[in-house]
Amino acid sequence: MMYVGDSLNRGQYVSMVCLLHSLIPHHAKSMETFGSLTVFTAKDYNATIEFYWAPFLLESNSDDAVIHRITDRVVRKGSINKHGKHWEGVDIIVFNTYLWWMTGSDFKILHGSFDDEVKDIVQVPTEDAYRMAMKSMVKWVEKNMDPERTRVFFTSMSPSHFKGIEWGGKPNENCYNQTKPIEDPNYWGSDSSKSIMRVTRDVLKFPVTFLNITQLSLYRKDAHTSIYKKQWNPLTPQQLANPNTYADCTHWCLPGLQDTWNHLLFVKLFYP
Ligand SMILES: *[C@@H]1O[C@H](CO)[C@@H](O)[C@H](O)[C@H]1NC(C)=O
Ligand SMILES: *[C@@H]1O[C@H](CO)[C@@H](O)[C@H](O)[C@H]1NC(C)=O
Ligand SMILES: *[C@@H]1O[C@H](CO)[C@@H](O)[C@H](O)[C@H]1NC(C)=O
Repeated sequence: MMYVGDSLNRGQYVSMVCLLHSLIPHHAKSMETFGSLTVFTAKDYNATIEFYWAPFLLESNSDDAVIHRITDRVVRKGSINKHGKHWEGVDIIVFNTYLWWMTGSDFKILHGSFDDEVKDIVQVPTEDAYRMAMKSMVKWVEKNMDPERTRVFFTSMSPSHFKGIEWGGKPNENCYNQTKPIEDPNYWGSDSSKSIMRVTRDVLKFPVTFLNITQLSLYRKDAHTSIYKKQWNPLTPQQLANPNTYADCTHWCLPGLQDTWNHLLFVKLFYP
């Protein structure tokens, strides 16, 4: 089984490993990382659960598994096999891709190669760039996954909670110090693009199973890692005085919400 995508999909992967590993004795499991690939092995079951870093699914300038804090993002058209060759042979694959596309209304697409001296880069509406990637993914699935004996999932967008004003909070409020979910059943946040969700729905077809986790996660402003995450740089006194300036309102605590995503996956896998 392999999860392919960005750090949110990595979170779901880690959730799955945590759900399983307590049932497996120490000598019968291992976890190793090889560049973009992390592999959890359940030895007695001859099974692996893996995560492969590809935040756009296609080749991009953000593909380094460690150094990928790039704001000027470029994705190469027609490049799914660059990563796809590392997914061949899996029985269950779980894709996601969303957040990395959200840098503005347009997105840069490379025609040709990243090695070209003069790069042919065109700027297109983000929805068009995203649709191109989704279609590539579906084509890869049709070519490489046998619907008789494999399963393919796509996890919908994971919402962020940076804009407290959208749920009736103060202007500078975000997920920091939130201890209750949003109660409005119709709540939707502007960080979750409905037009991208529409593209996803339009492009996905059998045999890809859509894991629709967006609405149920939108309520959970209380479930993010917030200030309780590893800090890569020491915090400044100014930050420490205002914890909402460094709260992570994108990723999720574990155990937590993403276990629910995997419960949903479990149901769709075994009771299709
Ligand atoms: C373990 O899985 C591999 C890859 O699917 C397969 O080639 C091998 O025969 C399996 N071994 C056992 C003991 O089932
Ligand atoms: C956290 O929220 C509670 C309840 O809304 C409030 O009383 C408290 O002052 C907040 N704490 C911080 C550190 O902002
Ligand atoms: C996703 O699920 C929500 C309910 O949680 C539903 O309202 C919405 O229509 C679904 N969206 C899609 C695209 O299926």
